[in-house]
Parts: sequence; structure tokens; C-alpha cells
Amino acid sequence: MKLVVLGPPGAGKGTQAAKLSGELSLPRIATGDMLRLEVSSGTELGKEAEGYMRRGLLVPDDIIIEMVRERVSQEDCKRGFILDGFPRNMAQAKVLEALGPMDLVIYLDAGEEEVVERLAGRRACRECQAVYHLRFSPPKADGRCDLCGGRLHQREDDREEVVRERFRTYRERTQPLVQYYQAKSILEKVEGLGTIEEISWSIQETLESRGLI
Ligand code: AP5
Repeated sequence: MKLVVLGPPGAGKGTQAAKLSGELSLPRIATGDMLRLEVSSGTELGKEAEGYMRRGLLVPDDIIIEMVRERVSQEDCKRGFILDGFPRNMAQAKVLEALGPMDLVIYLDAGEEEVVERLAGRRACRECQAVYHLRFSPPKADGRCDLCGGRLHQREDDREEVVRERFRTYRERTQPLVQYYQAKSILEKVEGLGTIEEISWSIQETLESRGLI
């Protein structure tokens, strides 16, 4: 099964894609996580991407496309995968199409003000990149990851002014993909407001109604 999770920054794509990945035993391919790993490892690719990410802009297509192409060709993607954060513009969508048909695009919708609030409270693990929220899904021990004990930190691009820029980038570059996938009849919209569990149930219902599980 090949799934795409699409939506604005902070809509809960990573949270839901990680849950789905566990439930369906499919790898989650999160381009944001892959880029942050490159940045923290100090690679050439990371150095090139960092400035764009810090400003809330899209990293150039040639970097992202090569990264995704290479990742989906790996053995663990043979049964399928869940794309989180890719595609983000029409050029990326065309490349994905050339790689083979997707079964479903789950469009998680959320408004700008909700997203700004959510991202202000987000904390991520420096080691394994697990995601928490100070209010909505707090870690068991203050400042420590439940899964690996790593230190939690606030992403640099979660400052309000950068979140608003990311949202603007999303509206301009990524939102047109909603119509694109709607026209192909492979898009299902899931309301991103509600608890993490409620949204997860809605996604399960959607997968069932499409005969995918
Ligand atoms: P990326 O890391 O992909 O950021 P994003 O798309 O902006 O998404 P986020 O990770 O911020 O949010 P999310 O929707 O995953 O929400 P989450 O589940 O964490 O990309 C970062 C940057 O990399 C981009 O700006 C760009 O520069 C670059 N990049 C990445 N991919 C690219 C591409 N394809 N092309 C070009 N450039 C690319 O949830 C958010 C918070 O809310 C968490 O704290 C969570 O615990 C909480 N939460 C989740 N669900 C709920 C709920 N239902 N109720 C309450 N709280 C909730």
C-alpha cells in the first residue's frame, strides 16, 4: 500500500503517519526528518538545506527528489510506504507519479491559528525525532523522550514567524495538490481538529471505506 499524508505544517501528519506506520507495518518516509538528520550530521546536503528550512521555504526539488527516489528504492519499501511531507509541489507530484500509482492521499486539514498554537507546544527528541506536545501529548519525564531517553528540544522553525511563513509556503506551493489529487479521485480529506485518537479513527475508517484494510 502506498499512502501520502498531505496537509499544512502542524496538522498532525507526522503523528498520524507514525501511528499508521506501526499499525500497517509500513515504513514512514518523512522528508523533514531526513533533512534534519542531514543538517545535524553536518553533510553537504544538510548545509545546503538548512537555510531554506530555517526560513520556512521549500528545499530545492533536486535535493528532495533524489533523496526520495533513493529511499523508496530500498528493500523495506517493496510492500509499500507512507510518505509524510512529500510531495509538496507539482514538480514533486509528477516525479512521484512516474514512480508508480499511489493508493490514497490522506489530506489532514487544519487552520493557521490552530497550527501556530500546536507548534509552539511541540517538542521533538534530538536522538530519535519522536514528537511530543507539552499539553496534548506530554512526555512521561520532563524534557526526556519516552522511547529512547533523549533530550527534547523545540525545533528552530517552530517559532511563530517561521510557522506563519511555512503556512504561507504551504498555501502557495502545496495546497494546489489537493485539487490535483481530488481530480484523480485518490484524495480523502480528514478533519485535523480533534484528539490524536479521534483523527486516527477517522483515518482508519477512510482506509476501510476505500477497501485498503
Ligand atoms: P516538515 O518536518 O515536513 O514540517 P511540516 O510539513 O511543516 O510539518 P510538521 O512536522 O511541522 O508538522 P506535522 O503535520 O507533521 O505535525 P506533527 O504531527 O508534528 O518539514 C520541515 C521543513 O523541511 C520544511 O519547512 C521544508 O523547508 C523542508 N522540507 C520537508 N519536506 C520537503 C519537501 N518535500 N520539499 C521541499 N522542502 C521540504 O504535530 C504537530 C504538533 O501537534 C506536535 O506537537 C503533536 O504532538 C501535536 N499534535 C498532533 N496531532 C494533534 C492533535 N490532534 N491534537 C493536538 N495536538 C496534536
